[in-house]
Amino acid sequence: MDLKGKNVLLTGGSRGLGPVIAAALVKEGCNIALTARSQDSLNTVAETLRRSGATVVAIQADINSAENRKLLVDIATQKLGQIDILINNAGIETAGAFQKHTAEEIELTLTTNINSPMHLAHMLLPEMLERQSGHIVNLGSLAGKQGSAYDAMYSGTKAALIEWTRGLRSELDGTGVSVSVVCPGYVSDVGMFASFGVKPPLLMGQSSPDAVASAVVKAIRKDRFEILVNPLPVRPLLALNTLFPAVGTLFMRLAGVNKLQKEKVGES
Ligand SMILES: NC(=O)c1ccc[n+]([C@@H]2O[C@H](COP(=O)([O-])OP(=O)(O)OC[C@H]3O[C@@H](n4cnc5c(N)ncnc54)[C@H](OP(=O)(O)O)[C@@H]3O)[C@@H](O)[C@H]2O)c1
Repeated sequence: MDLKGKNVLLTGGSRGLGPVIAAALVKEGCNIALTARSQDSLNTVAETLRRSGATVVAIQADINSAENRKLLVDIATQKLGQIDILINNAGIETAGAFQKHTAEEIELTLTTNINSPMHLAHMLLPEMLERQSGHIVNLGSLAGKQGSAYDAMYSGTKAALIEWTRGLRSELDGTGVSVSVVCPGYVSDVGMFASFGVKPPLLMGQSSPDAVASAVVKAIRKDRFEILVNPLPVRPLLALNTLFPAVGTLFMRLAGVNKLQKEKVGES
């Protein structure tokens, strides 16, 4: 898909990776509707992006509210026109020992990371299919490829997002509409991992926010199913893990991922 002039709805636009992804899409010539709950931060991000002459609108919404989702899609369509690209970027990482999560945390994590992205896609897909053009990008995670200790719930939601993407992509084959998933490992500088203030294991390394944004652009432009973003190429390891499932668990232990995860949530 050629991105120039395309209208994008991007969730999670107030902080972390969202503003970086938005900047990369603006550079490609897209018009953007940014959304999140924090109006002030959204406005600041939108103002910055507009300096390059881009059309950027900031729409405050809680993606977990059906009413807010409807308003969001209505306002974004009113202001920009038909939505060509949906980026399901908003997500929450409820890290910690699984048994210590509250029932409310379980509901909130499942709703934010899976239900709401599905609902947004469900709302925008009919129009995309009618126009035979559109693209949805879901922000997954390497945690969805290999579940992480003390991030088990988060990992589960990201695995669900990846397999939903795979199924939907097959279903959409030949319609002109497509869906991709971008799976970053540890990301430096901004976002949920950086906010913990711990160093990633040496073997895993970390990627820049710009690398994630480039992957989102590439996923749309080249219509890729899945892009893994990590300095160490992890696909061969994942392939080996499919054949021998103990490999992943062993690697996570030897690479120090389990130790880091424990440290990250103050369990060590
Ligand atoms: N950073 C990483 O290391 C990393 C690695 C792998 C995957 N990812 C994935 O990349 C995506 C972005 O992560 P990030 O690091 O940028 O996270 P982040 O810094 O925590 O930002 C999350 C964004 O989602 C928004 N959001 C959360 N709940 C929302 C809700 N109910 N309604 C509307 N907006 C909501 C937040 O805005 P408000 O709070 O203002 O609503 C914020 O803009 C996530 O899906 C994450 O799982 C990140």
